[in-house]
Amino acid sequence: MTKPKVLVSDKLSPTAVQIFRDRGIDVDFEPDLGKDKDKLAEVIGQYDGLAIRSATKVTESILRHAGKLRVVGRAGIGTDNVDKDAASKKGVIVMNTPFGNMITTAEHAIAMMFAVARQIPEASASTHAGKWEKSKFMGVELTSKTLGVIGAGNIGGIVCDRARGLKMKVVAYDPFLSEDKAQKMGVEKVELDELLARADFITLHVPLTDTTRNILSAENLAKTRKGVRIINCARGGLVDEEALAEMLKSGHVAGAAFDVFSKEPATENPLFGLPNVVCTPHLGAATTEAQENVALQVAEQMSDYLLTGA
Ligand code: MLT
Repeated sequence: MTKPKVLVSDKLSPTAVQIFRDRGIDVDFEPDLGKDKDKLAEVIGQYDGLAIRSATKVTESILRHAGKLRVVGRAGIGTDNVDKDAASKKGVIVMNTPFGNMITTAEHAIAMMFAVARQIPEASASTHAGKWEKSKFMGVELTSKTLGVIGAGNIGGIVCDRARGLKMKVVAYDPFLSEDKAQKMGVEKVELDELLARADFITLHVPLTDTTRNILSAENLAKTRKGVRIINCARGGLVDEEALAEMLKSGHVAGAAFDVFSKEPATENPLFGLPNVVCTPHLGAATTEAQENVALQVAEQMSDYLLTGA
């Protein structure tokens, strides 16, 4: 029997390559190929499996060239870079690794919450510049504040747990969260409008879907309390960035911490350059631990499927 062949077209940990080889799968490691759609279209026909992160865009046109392809494995959670309808029409399975980077992403959201509460990036830049602006950077405590968590699933659930450890009150909006589970998690399940009206900090942990797109629209942002701080380490497109920028300028929103943007790579954005807006370049899953976990998981899952169909 000929060995299945996998292409790794994004920067995955070498652990993935080792696992494919150990499992008896031929693997080509071309971590920059995913950015070159013409080259990818040229070679994809040779492969049974494609392992990616977020740089490779698996479009309908790529899939048209993928005559042998059986599985696309996303080392990470979001599969928004894969045309899933086109894949399913061709019978190509799309799999992700929903658990490998959830702790890391939750920790990034908590780090961003601290950063925006105490203006750490701006205070650091000012201190590096030799300014010693001690009175400029007055912060707020997290203890006893209300954190509104939109989406209390894998990542949101860990954020709830960490926030409770920080002695915050946690209110969660999540249609899939049962009252019983909320009670066990020590959080209060609320409707979105109540969360918006009560939260001192709001953090988003939902995927981008037709239901969640623009969940923090101009209209919903207007329902928040004055002085709210907003954290988005989930997906660009969940928050109306133009409307948020206006509310930051008016002083209604006291700060924002964004890891994800409606257009990525984000080189321009209405939030850029505003005071007390902390931005990172989609680093939510960027730890050595998480990248090892997702590489290992995607390689094992894809190998299982290619070798046994399971
Ligand atoms: C994910 O969906 O796993 C994260 O957003 C991480 C990433 O895309 O790199």
